[in-house]
Amino acid sequence: MSDQVAILGAGVMGETLLSGLLRAGWTADDVVITERRAERGKELAARYGVRVLENLDAAAGADTIVLVVKPQDISSLLAEISPVLRPGALLVCIAAGITTEFVEQRVPDGVAVVRVMPNTPALVDQGMAAMSPGKHCDATHLDRARALLEATGKVMEVAEYHQDAITAISGSGPAYIFYVVEAMIEAGVLLGLPRATSTELVVQTLYGAATMLKETGEHPTVLREQVSSPAGTTMAALRQLDDHKVRAAFLTAMEAARDRSRQLSSGTA
Ligand SMILES: NC(=O)c1ccc[n+]([C@@H]2O[C@H](COP(=O)([O-])OP(=O)(O)OC[C@H]3O[C@@H](n4cnc5c(N)ncnc54)[C@H](OP(=O)(O)O)[C@@H]3O)[C@@H](O)[C@H]2O)c1
Repeated sequence: MSDQVAILGAGVMGETLLSGLLRAGWTADDVVITERRAERGKELAARYGVRVLENLDAAAGADTIVLVVKPQDISSLLAEISPVLRPGALLVCIAAGITTEFVEQRVPDGVAVVRVMPNTPALVDQGMAAMSPGKHCDATHLDRARALLEATGKVMEVAEYHQDAITAISGSGPAYIFYVVEAMIEAGVLLGLPRATSTELVVQTLYGAATMLKETGEHPTVLREQVSSPAGTTMAALRQLDDHKVRAAFLTAMEAARDRSRQLSSGTA
């Protein structure tokens, strides 16, 4: 790969991206990282063989610069690296709620910005990243961002005004699934199963159901109907879920996540 990539901030998401890039064929010479804590930098250098630089040196030498610090650290990081950003450089910003406009206002005119909402399954190369181009982005910039993000899963291009909804669906999504899994494991224990047995049953059921959705391409309603025989056990359970308004609760929950994302983006909370 000829694209030189700098990952600024190698915490959970930064390390996820770094390890994904190396697995996907980037070499340790193609990637540099920066870290605020020297110890963490040393640990990653030892684990992955990459160079750990200061933010300024990393940003000055890279074609693609990925910002993977917490949203509250973005402003000061941009102020630090802005003087060395070259025209043609691409900034990929993974901080939740930070708009392309926010970044563009703090860097030299013409620097391309892509905003990304990833999710944690990127840790196992099954991430879902949604990327939105800023105003100076062309097709080449988007291709570069896509190549980077595809190292850890799927990538979708979306209009930036959808990013709050995407945060609510795929960004926070893994947490809802883990919540449902927890509840089903508890139910198994309630019904008398050993906890380890219940956990194995639920996790494999989730994995199997997700694989069916992906591999058959069938609508979830069709797949659910296949398990729902007339007056059977599944219908008895689903009726309870409907009585408890679980579907409505999901709709309201994701509206709340979308609204919270909007608040955080606008700096009003
Ligand atoms: N985790 C997720 O599920 C998820 C999902 C979607 C989006 N994101 C986004 O990804 C970003 C990173 O999240 P994370 O979970 O990876 O956070 P994290 O583990 O805290 O990683 C951020 C890292 O950047 C370092 N850092 C902060 N300021 C720096 C600077 N100026 N120069 C160099 N390094 C600096 C931090 O050091 P310190 O330890 O000293 O602070 C930390 O190691 C966030 O903006 C978040 O919104 C995360």
